[in-house]
Amino acid sequence: MGGSQGSQGLVGCTPFRLRGSGGTMLRILFLTLCGLLTRTRADPGALLRLGTDIMNHEVQSALDESHILEKMAAEAGKKRPGMKPIKGITNLKVKDVQLPVITLNFIPGVGIFQCVSTGMTITGKSFMGGNMEIILVLNITATNRLLQDEASGLPVFKSEGCEVILVSMKTKLPSSMPPKVVNKLLDSTLRKVLPTLLCPAIDAVLVYVNRKWANLSVPTPMGQMGSVKYVLTSVPTTTASYFQVDFSPVVQLQEGTAIQLAEAGEALELPEGYAEGSSQLLLSATLLTAELALLQKSFNVNVQDKTIGELPSQTTETLAGFIPEVAEAYPKPKPLVTQIRINKPPRVTMKTGKSLLHLHGTLEMFAARRRHKAPVSLFRLETHFNLKIQYSVHENRLQMATSLDRLLSLSRVSSSIGAFREKGLTGLITDYLQEAYVPVINDLLQVGLPLPDLLDMNYNLAELDIVENALVLDLKLD
Ligand SMILES: *[C@@H]1O[C@H](CO)[C@@H](O)[C@H](O)[C@H]1NC(C)=O
Ligand SMILES: *[C@@H]1O[C@H](CO)[C@@H](O)[C@H](O)[C@H]1NC(C)=O
Repeated sequence: MGGSQGSQGLVGCTPFRLRGSGGTMLRILFLTLCGLLTRTRADPGALLRLGTDIMNHEVQSALDESHILEKMAAEAGKKRPGMKPIKGITNLKVKDVQLPVITLNFIPGVGIFQCVSTGMTITGKSFMGGNMEIILVLNITATNRLLQDEASGLPVFKSEGCEVILVSMKTKLPSSMPPKVVNKLLDSTLRKVLPTLLCPAIDAVLVYVNRKWANLSVPTPMGQMGSVKYVLTSVPTTTASYFQVDFSPVVQLQEGTAIQLAEAGEALELPEGYAEGSSQLLLSATLLTAELALLQKSFNVNVQDKTIGELPSQTTETLAGFIPEVAEAYPKPKPLVTQIRINKPPRVTMKTGKSLLHLHGTLEMFAARRRHKAPVSLFRLETHFNLKIQYSVHENRLQMATSLDRLLSLSRVSSSIGAFREKGLTGLITDYLQEAYVPVINDLLQVGLPLPDLLDMNYNLAELDIVENALVLDLKLD
């Protein structure tokens, strides 16, 4: 079905339905409409691809942890409404349910086709007296769709078209029973009875998995500053190798104001080349930018310690080495106080392999005076500098550690010591930012950015890649 052609643009549309009747015109019209619809749709701030690895793990662990097949087996002997007894067998029991083997296959535009192969033994007393045993190998198949629950807005798995395929049947019968007759009887009876017995297990497994989406819509706090909530942009889509869930995260300040995610210039796209069946979470640079806006105010820093990192103590004398006028104004050294104010929201950018945090603001240096007297402003500079970001995941939060990448501009806004060349301060300010400012920022960033809480995902094992405009977490299972 040409799954590779423009899957991004056609998400949610089913062009092949128009084939046959309509001819080219209709299709062109349809594709144009699709294009328009896609453009008006909000760009997702994050997206999740669920491949067979995670789906397999989810279904397998739901089967194991819920003990659903065993429970169904235990129920088999009991009389329940709507459940037909197996003719000719009394005292029915199901035992020795074998560890199920699960195979999954994605059907584009539909869902994931699931086959659970298992075996079990049915015991009972035959109508002619004597114990009988039926050893069955069977496949339970169904198609699981990933939809969006209307009430909660959360993703939800639903199964359709459950069938039970009898792969083989062996019987141990009392010698008085003619096997041919019995086998035929059993075969037709089991075909009717097994689906009612086993298909509810498939639904029960999905109920179990669906519960693991519940925390997705709970806002996760980012320190005291605000919270992040992952909301679905649209109904998840299904391709030939994964489910795709698009998120429009809601980033909110503590007092309730939402921070608008900037329009992404181009569509968020996951690069090719991840292993078949693997799963990824992609976080856009615009999402990280919105999250850091929560911290903007704390990025304003006053530094007044005498010694800073690796730097010698900072006084007007240090400054005089770069601006001789300072020595004239302050013949006796005074301690320096520095104020950094970030006056534009911090912005995260990403190019393959490299991510930067852009900071715009002012840097003002003061000479401290004796107690109770306000420090005197020496000069104020407008500045733009970049920090290089390194990402990691710790305790299921995205962690950032920064280091100074480049000081991009310095321009004088005011000065009480007369005109001077700002360029001459580049070295001093660069050291200053690296030693005094970056450690404060790194401390603040330790709050970590919340990742979507879904399917008990352990993000700590993920491998991180910086791609165009996004960070990819290649998800790994324990
Ligand atoms: C049952 O499932 C197994 C494993 O998926 C598969 O190899 C086999 O062909 C299936 N049998 C039938 C009869 O569908
Ligand atoms: C949801 O979050 C709560 C509190 O952190 C936790 O106890 C619970 O296990 C979570 N539920 C799921 C389904 O992950």
